[in-house]
Amino acid sequence: MSEQAVQIRTGGKILQSPCGPIIHGLEDVLIKNTSISDIDGDKGILWYRGYRIEDLAQHSTYEEVSYLILYGKLPTKKDFEDYVSRLRKNRDLRPETIEVIRNLAKAHPMFALEAAVAAEGAYDEDNHKLAEALRLGRYKAEEKELAYKIAEKLVAKMPTIVAYHYRLSRNLDIVKPREDLSHSANFLYMMFGKEPDPLAVRGIDLYLMLHADHEVPASTFTAHVVASTLSDLYSAVAAAVAALKGPLHGGANEMAVRSYLEIGDPSKARDVVEAATKPGGPKLMGVGHRVYKAYDPRAKIFREFSKNYVAKFGDPKNLYAIASAIEHEVLNHPYFQQRRLYPNVDFWSGIAFYYMGVPYEYFTPIFAVSRVVGWVAHILEYWENNRIFRPRACYVGPHDLQYVPIEQR
Ligand code: CMC
Repeated sequence: MSEQAVQIRTGGKILQSPCGPIIHGLEDVLIKNTSISDIDGDKGILWYRGYRIEDLAQHSTYEEVSYLILYGKLPTKKDFEDYVSRLRKNRDLRPETIEVIRNLAKAHPMFALEAAVAAEGAYDEDNHKLAEALRLGRYKAEEKELAYKIAEKLVAKMPTIVAYHYRLSRNLDIVKPREDLSHSANFLYMMFGKEPDPLAVRGIDLYLMLHADHEVPASTFTAHVVASTLSDLYSAVAAAVAALKGPLHGGANEMAVRSYLEIGDPSKARDVVEAATKPGGPKLMGVGHRVYKAYDPRAKIFREFSKNYVAKFGDPKNLYAIASAIEHEVLNHPYFQQRRLYPNVDFWSGIAFYYMGVPYEYFTPIFAVSRVVGWVAHILEYWENNRIFRPRACYVGPHDLQYVPIEQR
């Protein structure tokens, strides 16, 4: 394909190589058509299946949004009730998975999540049946039905993995899921073992709705790469969890709150922001985005939620005050203005969680609890027209060196 024929929107970073230009970090490279989500990075707009996230955040729930993302349309009342009932019945984990979590109880929960997702997949007959059908080139109505069944199981079980890890890491008995509670209320109930506060439920539900999909960030791309090899659905999700963990991606929500705790006082914001502008300085966690060159619309919603939350429950660790002071410096600093760097979703999202008593190591796992629906929806979409991902690298080392036996080196 000629260079001109490749549709590249990038104004971004191109590396030169003897083989041609390298689009560093695949910036703006298109990998497929999608009808799942869309981002207008210049205006700061995000749509799921055509709906603005502000509308969904105000009127919907994670259960409805996850249905929308998975099935492509808002459910009828009957479809919704059936879907919710299936999710609720699928919440618990198999004993082998619980053992895996128990064995990793002292590890960071993202490691446990990767392993537990793989463990659920290893023992799920539906998963093997689907992988075998795909291997034989069959992806018709029957296989698609199976794929959606597995997708729902993944959506249903992710909160349970995270909550069980939280309990076991603290030497507490696990709290079994309850079928009479919503996705978010049940999650908090399994974590803390008591009926959750309605504002906390709303906070988790908002978080889950706003993280449900985001086109193809690193984790979703990873899920595509693994699924494109016809590995299996659970393995693709486990790999996506691994990619999400990094501080440049989903791990930034944990790092942002940890940095606010270390900073401790809003008066230090100016120095912290200044340090981030120096070559080799520490990047500000929760600031900047590959696609948004405007304020992240999700961050706006969390800023408001955090403001209301601390107005009601207080800000004893100054987290909201520090984040506000950093935001002020960032928005007024020429370094960030010239590069069009704004707070992103991870900048504000952890503050209310922290005050709800959710330890910061669980922030990124909760991101995964939400994003799993986006990952599986994208995999199912890609399998409609699958082709293995296999890019190239430009080799710049020597060729045809003569092998020298070890004794002679
Ligand atoms: N602090 C200071 N400088 C920054 C920051 C930051 N947070 N983000 C970007 N820059 C600078 C960067 O050094 C570069 O400067 P220069 O042009 O002088 O070399 C310029 O801005 C462009 O940045 P980039 O690294 O080329 O941008 P990217 O598209 O490759 O990376 C990013 C995007 C999100 C990884 C990056 O902005 C970053 O590391 N932010 C902090 C981590 C973070 O908040 N991640 C969460 C992302 S959003 C939600 C999610 O994915 O989970």
